[in-house]
Amino acid sequence: MTEATALRELPQHQLFRPGDVFVLFGELFGRGYANGLIAEARKAGMEIIGMTVGRRGEDGQLRPLNAEELAEAEANLGGKIINVPLMAGFDQDAPAGEATPTQLLGALTLKTWQEDKLDWDHIEKCRQIGVARFQAGVAQAMAQLEGMIADGRNVFFAHTMAGGIPKAKVFLAIANRVYKGRGERFLSTEALLNSDLGKLILQNFDEVTANTFQHLIDGSAALRQRLEAAGGQVRYTAYGYHGTEILIDGEYQWQTYTNYTQGYAKMRLENVARAAWEQGVKATVFNCPEIRTNSSDIFVGVELPLIGLLRALKRENGSAWADGEWQACEALLQDGHALEEVLSKLDQLNNSEVMRGFRNFQAWPMPNSPELADVMIGTSDGITAMHRDAKALITDRLSSLVIEASGSLMFGEAAQPAGPVLWLNHDIIARQLNRAHG
Ligand SMILES: NC(=O)c1ccc[n+]([C@@H]2O[C@H](COP(=O)([O-])OP(=O)(O)OC[C@H]3O[C@@H](n4cnc5c(N)ncnc54)[C@H](O)[C@@H]3O)[C@@H](O)[C@H]2O)c1
Repeated sequence: MTEATALRELPQHQLFRPGDVFVLFGELFGRGYANGLIAEARKAGMEIIGMTVGRRGEDGQLRPLNAEELAEAEANLGGKIINVPLMAGFDQDAPAGEATPTQLLGALTLKTWQEDKLDWDHIEKCRQIGVARFQAGVAQAMAQLEGMIADGRNVFFAHTMAGGIPKAKVFLAIANRVYKGRGERFLSTEALLNSDLGKLILQNFDEVTANTFQHLIDGSAALRQRLEAAGGQVRYTAYGYHGTEILIDGEYQWQTYTNYTQGYAKMRLENVARAAWEQGVKATVFNCPEIRTNSSDIFVGVELPLIGLLRALKRENGSAWADGEWQACEALLQDGHALEEVLSKLDQLNNSEVMRGFRNFQAWPMPNSPELADVMIGTSDGITAMHRDAKALITDRLSSLVIEASGSLMFGEAAQPAGPVLWLNHDIIARQLNRAHG
């Protein structure tokens, strides 16, 4: 992979119609990207079906949702949920009576974790158990789905799973330093990735963020073949991240949040789509812009590029609606602070030598550095402090807009996708928003 293949034209095709089925592979959270696709599926009159990751009982065992949880999740989704636990990763799996990887991590301390070693033979056994459990869950969920989708329907599978941070006390403290620490509290991601702890986490990211897409494509093969034989069409999408082109110095330029340790898993996810595409399966990873969600809030500074979307809205023939967005964003700032001040802070950051050094597509995902943490977290804190309310940020408002636009673009493009990996940069996001609101 040497270059970013971007979606440059607004999608023109339509495939999905009332009665077709939209399947969400992952859970739906209030601020999550998947809301954009769900809105489109609902507009198209599709039936919506969801999955669950299940819940863990006090004994640590994974269980389906209880009646109350299921009713709540179905109301939130606006569709039926197949109640088979699809928690991915192997951080809490182990041969009967033996320690799970999370329990092994319990022995690590903040003082010793960089030297502490893990038993890789044991971890491999846990990994295999976790994978087999997930595949069995997918098989069970697909068996239920079989009975819910009649011949003649088209199906849209939307993969949204990403994650895999083990719930180990020691890692919570480390994560706080890696993603939020500066000065004396800074911790290098290189140190993390060189440790056994880091290697375990990367494996778990692969399982949750990437391999689940493969299991979805494999596990739905029989259903896909039946529907296709009856003239129906099946599509798969997944959310990727691999940097985004935003306006810097008046030009769309590729940039990235650093350090994105999940980047290795996201590249693996892209490769899953490429391999499926080679086999004639229409699977597309859409690499999406940085936004603020439950999952991304841990990465302080990830939201900064999003502010540049305001300029893209104007650049892409923004009308009165785009002006209105500028005003609405400005109104979120305290008296005495102007939007131009926020944009100039962003320019200062993007023009700094430190940030320029990270605009290196080939080297992605690069490890962080103390200088980076300093300027990025400093800028993020500075911009947040200019707001009236830390719970109503410009980047919250812009995140909702990106969710809306990415939903339309992905839904439209999935009808006749141009390829297995497509970037949604600020140019196309802004054009879509201006088209929808202009
Ligand atoms: N937020 C961003 O800036 C951003 C940018 C580009 C791509 N994405 C991608 O968009 C997708 C949705 O993320 P989001 O940011 O909207 O957050 P989100 O928190 O709404 O979604 C995360 C999803 O991952 C699932 N998940 C988490 N751990 C899991 C596990 N162990 N097993 C199975 N499923 C698990 C959740 O059920 C949920 O569906 C992810 O693939 C994410 O990487 C996010």
